[in-house]
Amino acid sequence: MEPSKEYLFEYKGYYFSVETTPEYVATLEDFEIKDSDIFLATYPKSGTVWTQNILSLIIHEGHRNGTENMETMERIPWLEYNRENKDYASLPLPRVFATHLPYYLVPRDLRKKRARVIYVTRNPKDVMVSYYHFSKYMTTLEQIPDFNLFMERFLAGKVLGSLWVDHVAGWYSHAEDFNILFLTYEEMKKDLRSAVLKICKFLGKKLSDEDVDSVVRQATFENMRKDPRANYENLPDDIVAKDKGSFLRKGTVGDWKNIMTVAQNERFDKVLGDKMKTLPIRFVWDINDEV
Ligand code: A3P
Repeated sequence: MEPSKEYLFEYKGYYFSVETTPEYVATLEDFEIKDSDIFLATYPKSGTVWTQNILSLIIHEGHRNGTENMETMERIPWLEYNRENKDYASLPLPRVFATHLPYYLVPRDLRKKRARVIYVTRNPKDVMVSYYHFSKYMTTLEQIPDFNLFMERFLAGKVLGSLWVDHVAGWYSHAEDFNILFLTYEEMKKDLRSAVLKICKFLGKKLSDEDVDSVVRQATFENMRKDPRANYENLPDDIVAKDKGSFLRKGTVGDWKNIMTVAQNERFDKVLGDKMKTLPIRFVWDINDEV
């Protein structure tokens, strides 16, 4: 089943939401990079909003100490979804962008090891389950209430972000072209402080122990959920159904076990299992697994 054109369009083999246009996406290859730029790249539902908040807390003292009240989306806008047509060239430095772009559609100069990229992955069963719930919440995504149908869409890559394994394999196999740090949702979940320190090191940012503690505290699921700067609760009514969920839903590892049947799990492994084995990632399917 093809995705509805009402929600998605295809550009160079990749599905975008109609919240952007092929013309705009085409301009991004020539997007002018500054060396201090940071790009947070993910497949949808892999921990983007979480990492956005961490980056903002690390970079902006005024965010950490609460003297500035700016929402994540304003601090770290979406590269390919520029709803308000903002002038990205005039953003304060360092600019940080979030993106779901596949490696081959990003600004050309990024592939010359300019600027920095942070790529976050998550085990794909949790990604899929998170995505399923999310598509009920986002009115800009097609509603597929039947989980089995949604799974088939996901496994066929007929969703915003296209095929999960292609996205991840693309970024990993082209790592050498980029100045890139790979992180996993599960390692962040298991030891957030170490993940924050890894990011600081990659950015060349030295924070005091107290500041690192403050970042970690403000980036926990419970605290972010309550934080209107970080929880995306102010998204406009024309794109979210506020009574049908939230960006910060459950925030756990292994939630897929609560919804996938044994047969669905087998089907998933049959379709993606071999391809997943070729990825240099050790997947964590349960919070009690070693990362
Ligand atoms: P769940 O739907 O499984 O809860 P993205 O930001 O890429 O859309 O990913 C969203 C997922 O990240 C959601 O997963 C959300 O709850 C989770 N998430 C967001 N902030 C988090 C945090 N501080 N800790 C753990 N998970 C978080």
